[in-house]
Amino acid sequence: MSDQKRTMLVTSALPYANGSIHLGHLVEYIQTDIWVRFQKMRGHDCTYVCADDAHGTPIMLRAQQAGVEPEQLIADVAREHRADFAEFLIEFDNYHSTHSPENRELSELIYCRNRDAGHITTRTITQAYDPEKQMFLPDRFIRGECPRCGAADQYGDNCEACGATYAPTELKNPRSAVSGATPVAKESLQYFFNLGNFETLLKKWTRAGHLQSEVANKLDEWFAEGLQEWDISRNAPYFGFEIPDAPGKFFYVWMDAPIGYMASFKNLCERTGMDFDAYWRAGSATELYHFIGKDIIRFHALFWPAMLSGAGFRTPTAIFAHGFLTVNGQKMSKSRGTFIKARTYLEHLNPEYLRYYFAAKLGSDIDDLDLNLDDFVKRVNSDLVGKYVNIASRTANFIVKQFDGELLGVAEFSASPDRQAQYMADVSAAAQQIAEHYEAREYSQAVRKIMEMADGINQDFDEQEPWKLAKDPERKDELQRICSRILHGFYCLSICLAPILPAMSARVARELFGMSRDFNWDDLNSFPARIAAFKHLATRVEANAISALLEASKESMAEAQQAPAGPLAEDPLSPIIDYDDFARLDLRVARIVKADAVEKADKLLRLTLDLGGETRNVFAGIKSAYAPEDLEGRLTIMVANLAPRKMRFGVSEGMVLAAGPGGKDLFILEPDDGAQPGMRVK
Ligand code: MSP
Ligand code: ZN
Repeated sequence: MSDQKRTMLVTSALPYANGSIHLGHLVEYIQTDIWVRFQKMRGHDCTYVCADDAHGTPIMLRAQQAGVEPEQLIADVAREHRADFAEFLIEFDNYHSTHSPENRELSELIYCRNRDAGHITTRTITQAYDPEKQMFLPDRFIRGECPRCGAADQYGDNCEACGATYAPTELKNPRSAVSGATPVAKESLQYFFNLGNFETLLKKWTRAGHLQSEVANKLDEWFAEGLQEWDISRNAPYFGFEIPDAPGKFFYVWMDAPIGYMASFKNLCERTGMDFDAYWRAGSATELYHFIGKDIIRFHALFWPAMLSGAGFRTPTAIFAHGFLTVNGQKMSKSRGTFIKARTYLEHLNPEYLRYYFAAKLGSDIDDLDLNLDDFVKRVNSDLVGKYVNIASRTANFIVKQFDGELLGVAEFSASPDRQAQYMADVSAAAQQIAEHYEAREYSQAVRKIMEMADGINQDFDEQEPWKLAKDPERKDELQRICSRILHGFYCLSICLAPILPAMSARVARELFGMSRDFNWDDLNSFPARIAAFKHLATRVEANAISALLEASKESMAEAQQAPAGPLAEDPLSPIIDYDDFARLDLRVARIVKADAVEKADKLLRLTLDLGGETRNVFAGIKSAYAPEDLEGRLTIMVANLAPRKMRFGVSEGMVLAAGPGGKDLFILEPDDGAQPGMRVK
C-alpha cells in the first residue's frame, strides 16, 4: 500500500470487573477490533490493549456479598471476560487488570508528578456516611424519596420517576442501600485535581482535531459551565490503591482506570521488549486512540488529557466515541429478554453474525444503534449467506471438478488487455473506497460497498449461466474463464470483509485458496492459482434461534436475580416499580405438596404447589438452601399471577418468595400459623 507505515496504540474502555459482558459492551469491542484488524491488514504496526476495571465501591461490596476477597471476584470475572472476548474474535494484544503492579506504579507516578507541579489541592468536605457499615456512601448507594416528586426509593443524585437531579443531602428519608441505616453527614479531607489549571490547554486540544464534532460541542458546554476541581480520593474502606502520601485515602476508581491503558501496555512491553516510552513520552510520534462509549466522554476528553499533560506524558491522538445499543428500538430490558449477555448469545448464534450486523450499522458518529432482531436475521441470511457465501458455494466446484482446481489469472480470464486494465482499475478503486470507509470508522458504508460488489458478481454469474456451459464440452475454456473471474471477485470480497469476519475469511484464505496465512490488504494485488472444493462456510439463522435466545436471556437474568440477594444485587439496573405495579401482584399462600431436584440444574427445585384446590408447577432457585424433603408440607407465599414461563426444564407457573444473602441462607417466606392455601396476602 502506498501509505507510510504507522505505529499506533489502540484501546477500548475497560469493562468493570463486577458484571458480565453484554451485547451493549460488544458494540465497542467489535468496533475497535474491526479497526485494529484493518490497520494490521494494511501493514501498520498497531497494538490493541485493554484490561478489567477492577477497583471501586461496587466491586468491594459485591465481593463482600459473595463472601470472597475482591481479588477472587476480579480473577473470576476476568476469566469470564477473556473467554467471552476470545469467542467474539476480539483479539487484544494484551488484556490486563487495573489491580496490577504496573497500574499502581503508574498511578502513583502520575499523581506525584501532578502534585509536584501544583495540580493537586486538599480540602475538607462533608459527605454522607453510613454509621452502621462505617463507610462513606457514593451517591448511588443512598436511596430515598425524590425531593421534587416524592417518588420512593430513588438514587442519591437523580430521580428516575421525574428526572430531577439533586444533591444526596436533599433526598427525603434517605437511607443507606448497603445497611439500611440513615446516613449522617461526616467531614473528611479529600484530594482534588485542579482541572481549571488546564483550561487553556484543553480548549486548544478540543478544537485541534482530536474529537468528533458532537463531542467537541459537548466540551464547549462544559467549558461554559466552568471546569470544577475533581475529587480523586476516597476514604477507606475502599478497594483500590492507597494514595502515596495519604494513609487511609485511596485513588478514586476513575483516577486509575484510564491509567490502566498505560499499565496494560507496560505489561505488554515487559513481556515483549517493546519501548514503553516511545509511545508515551510527550511529543511521541506514535498514534494513540481510545474507543469509548458516549457516557464516559468527560473522563477521556477532559480529565485524561489534563492528567497526562500534567504528568509530562503525551495526550491522545483521538478519542472515538460511539452511541448506545438498543434492542428492537428500546433500551435493553431484562424482562423482555433483550438484556443479552455475550455468553447467552454464544450459546445460540454465530459470533461473526453479530460482528457483521454491528458493522452494517456502525458509523463514525455518536448516534445510538439498534439491534433489530428481525432485521438481524434478514441481513445475515440475505447478505452474508445469500450474497457472499453463495458466490463460492455455487462456483468453486465447477473449477474443482472440471479443471482440477486450476484458476486462471486476471490476464487470462480477461477478454483483452484493455478489459483487464479496466477490471483491475475498478477493483482497486472499490477497494480504495472500502479502505477509506474503514479508516474513517464508516463501517456501514464499507459494508454497503462490499455488498454492491457482491450483487455485481452474482449478476455476472446469473448472466453467464455457467451451469449451461458446464454441459457443453465445446465451451470449457469459457467456463473456466467465467468461474475464475467470479471466484476472483469472491476472493476480493473476502479480503475486504476480513476485518469484520476474521474466522470466515481465514478459512477462505487457508482452506479454499490454500494460503498458509490469513489475508492482508496487499493480497488484493494477487490471485492464487488454485482453489479447493467448497466446504460449508455459514448457515442461515433460523427464526427460532432468536426466540430461544430471548427466552434464555430471561432465564439467565432470573437465575442471576436468585443468586445474590440484598439491596445491591440488582443495582444499578433494577427498575423502579410504582405502587400500581406492586398492587398488580397477586400474592397467595401455597402449600408445597411436592418438591424434587431438577436434573442438570444446580440451583433449581421443581415445586408442586397447592393453592387451595388449584395446583401449580413452579421452579425455584433454592436448592442451595433446602433439601426437597424439608420443604414438603410447608406453607409459603407465592406470586400467583405471574405469566407462565417456559424454562429449559418445563413451564414455571409462578414464583415463590425467598429472602437472604444466598447459598445456605435463603429463606422461603412462610405465612404465620392459621394460614390456609389459597389465602391472599395483603
Ligand atoms: N469501567 C468504565 C470504563 C473505564 S475506561 C478507563 C466503564 N465500564 S463499563 O463496563 O460500564 O463499560 C465499558 C464500555 O462499554 C464503555 O465504553 C461503555 O460506554 C460501553 N457500553 C456499556 N453499555 C453499552 C451499551 N448499552 N451500548 C454501547 N456501549 C455500551 O464504563
Ligand atoms: Zn422525582
